[in-house]
Amino acid sequence: MLAMLQWYEAAGVDLAVGEAPVDRFAQSAVVPAAPRSAAPVPPASRDAPPQPAIAASGADADPETARELAAGAQTLDALREALENFDGCGLKLRATNLVFADGNPQARVMLVGEAPGRDEDLQGKPFVGRSGQLLDRMLKAIGLDRTGVYIANTVPWRPPGNRTPAPSEVAVCLPFLYRQIELVAPKVLVALGGASASTLFETNAGITRIRGQWRDLTVNGHTMRALATLHPAYLLRQPAAKRLAWQDLLAIRKALDEA
Ligand code: URA
Repeated sequence: MLAMLQWYEAAGVDLAVGEAPVDRFAQSAVVPAAPRSAAPVPPASRDAPPQPAIAASGADADPETARELAAGAQTLDALREALENFDGCGLKLRATNLVFADGNPQARVMLVGEAPGRDEDLQGKPFVGRSGQLLDRMLKAIGLDRTGVYIANTVPWRPPGNRTPAPSEVAVCLPFLYRQIELVAPKVLVALGGASASTLFETNAGITRIRGQWRDLTVNGHTMRALATLHPAYLLRQPAAKRLAWQDLLAIRKALDEA
């Protein structure tokens, strides 16, 4: 039994998703096979981590409740506390820790990633795993570190198995992120990766098309310059794309120097 658990762990299986086994062979036997000629389904997000089929729990509350709670938080500490006490997002059920933010709330730059991964979930801090280490090197290349930026995610709890957060999960967490942005009031907002960009910029356009383009973004009455760039996790998989990310980093540096 112990050897089997060790084998699971080595294979990356770090989460129990149910008390009772599910016979997926029996389930797929009743689903008609896709036609041979069907076009391959594109990945939902090019920089998203692999997505095992662990569905949203369906426990997500009405975003209006979240909006009221978030609006009532007058400080970032109060907002964190409101999230700690909020049971309206199903992601919280399986997460170890709330991953609220890292960095300097007085920073002129705020970075928004997609969702915490395993390391972030364990430490309760965003971008502390491999992609976080790359992010730190990217920031260093333009003279920044975590004392000069503020970092959060579109959802503050880890989606099981690192799947992309479901729309209902993003929707119920978004009022908290909006309030967080409003309270930090950065001059520059950077969306890290396609999922963050499509949430914040309300677009379905792919990240490779919209990255590197400045826009004015207004969140809860606060207007800032905003830019999307490639997610560090994507850059780890596609190192050739670092050339594009470097252009975006230089644009961020320039915007800060001019601000
Ligand atoms: N990827 C993200 O989008 N956010 C994190 O916090 C870590 C990895």
